[in-house]
Amino acid sequence: MSAARAFVHADAEALARAAAQEVGRAAREAIEFRGRFDLALAGGSTPKRMYQLLDAALPWSRIHLWFGDERCVPPEHTDSNYRMVRETLLDRIAIPAANVHRMKGEDEPAIAARAYEAELRRELGSTAGSALHGASSTPRLDLALLGIGPDGHTASLFPGTKAVAERQRWCVENWVEAKQSWRITLTLPVFDAARRVMFVVAGADKREMLSRVWAKADPALPASLVGASRGSSTVEWWLDGAVVRA
Ligand code: 6PG
Repeated sequence: MSAARAFVHADAEALARAAAQEVGRAAREAIEFRGRFDLALAGGSTPKRMYQLLDAALPWSRIHLWFGDERCVPPEHTDSNYRMVRETLLDRIAIPAANVHRMKGEDEPAIAARAYEAELRRELGSTAGSALHGASSTPRLDLALLGIGPDGHTASLFPGTKAVAERQRWCVENWVEAKQSWRITLTLPVFDAARRVMFVVAGADKREMLSRVWAKADPALPASLVGASRGSSTVEWWLDGAVVRA
């Protein structure tokens, strides 16, 4: 496991507040230094409160929202990560539609994945391989938010699925046998190329998995692979007390 930094907060509400504040601070800093902030959002339930607390007064016209993964359902489906983000954030901020990069869960998975990779290339391709960002040809997000599932998955990189081993493509379709469904997900190279990765994890039910993920990089636990290829890079763990309290 690469070097990691943990930030523990009293409870889920305090964690959501602190993480939302940090995302806002990081956004303002990136915009000041680079003119834009590219943020990949995590799906699931943990980030909901944090998204509700993101500052509506941020310079959203300079912020680009990406998705770490999406369920292969239409955007108005209750399982859609986009719908969750729309309800907790997009409906209350003034952000240009072109800045919201939605994974098209309603499309055929392989087509949607390739379209999303093309959008990453269009939007961030110029930063890939530039002198500023070294030789990497992988698009560089400023910040990727991630969660952990009870089985050690992150984004839609589920244990035993094809996407976990993907090291060339940046976005792939992924059949998840355990869910009997298709997902679209960014791949480890994209998460590892991000300037920062913030795992936001809350709840006693994640405690055992977190300790396993921290113990070692293990392909059976995809969350433990994030940051591994960056050697000493730090992956940040934003946690509530319940997930660390013995
Ligand atoms: C998704 C997420 C997924 C999530 C974990 C944790 O699409 O479900 O991207 O990786 O982060 O499953 O989900 P909870 O926050 O709901 O526990």
